[in-house]
Amino acid sequence: MTEAGELPPAPEAAREVFGERFPEAVRYAELLADAGVRRGLIGPREVPRLWERHLLNCAVLSEAVADDVTVCDVGSGAGLPGIPLALVRDDLHITLLEPLLRRTTFLQEVVELLGLDHVTVVRGRAEEVLGTLQPVHVVTARAVAPLDRLAGWGVPLLRPYGEMLALKGDTAEEELKNARAALSKLGVVKTSVLQVGEGVVEPLSTVVRAEVGESPGGVRFAAKRAKAARVSRSRRRR
Ligand SMILES: C[S@@+](CC[C@H](N)C(=O)[O-])C[C@H]1O[C@@H](n2cnc3c(N)ncnc32)[C@H](O)[C@@H]1O
Repeated sequence: MTEAGELPPAPEAAREVFGERFPEAVRYAELLADAGVRRGLIGPREVPRLWERHLLNCAVLSEAVADDVTVCDVGSGAGLPGIPLALVRDDLHITLLEPLLRRTTFLQEVVELLGLDHVTVVRGRAEEVLGTLQPVHVVTARAVAPLDRLAGWGVPLLRPYGEMLALKGDTAEEELKNARAALSKLGVVKTSVLQVGEGVVEPLSTVVRAEVGESPGGVRFAAKRAKAARVSRSRRRR
């Protein structure tokens, strides 16, 4: 294994961004740098850039999230962007959705250690928890899948008029172009690319926003698919 680099002291911007929750943000950075690396949840080479590239880059997503809404962070991994978002926003109700047990165990520990009462950890794949999770106002995701595939997993979890916020890098415009047809099939009525984190992160964080209308088509398609799968399973059993 590559030797883990040193966790640098928190940058000044982190104090401002995390405010009262700054001590918890430091604790989270330490947990990622220690248990996160030992348990293979984050690469050792990421440690020196944990603050800028991970915690702050994710926390600034808050600029795009409305007040008092429900959020599902799909493919949360070691808690990104869900945990930094929870640290800066007590008003949100956040579900961290992650299929791998090793990762949900870590997430549950982090949530308890940091006292994040507004965060729930759910183990599962987005396409499998559909129908068991309450539809949410906002789906967030970072580094989970290309936009068209991610949309197929994330958009069906949305309530009417909800939105998916995907943290993407330089590929945002390109991915959006390639995903247009898939997004429209899923009931996405408006898309945009925004930059967040002015004065905090350099380069700025790029976010693809995909908004659904009154009746997210994805929900209907996914429900139809789930029903077809149930029918075919019961036919096979007969
Ligand atoms: C590369 S990691 C990114 C983790 C985190 N979002 C980050 O930015 O560091 C992708 C994560 O997506 C999860 N994942 C993959 N397919 C998924 C699905 N269908 N539903 C939910 N999560 C999924 C994986 O288990 C993994 O933890």
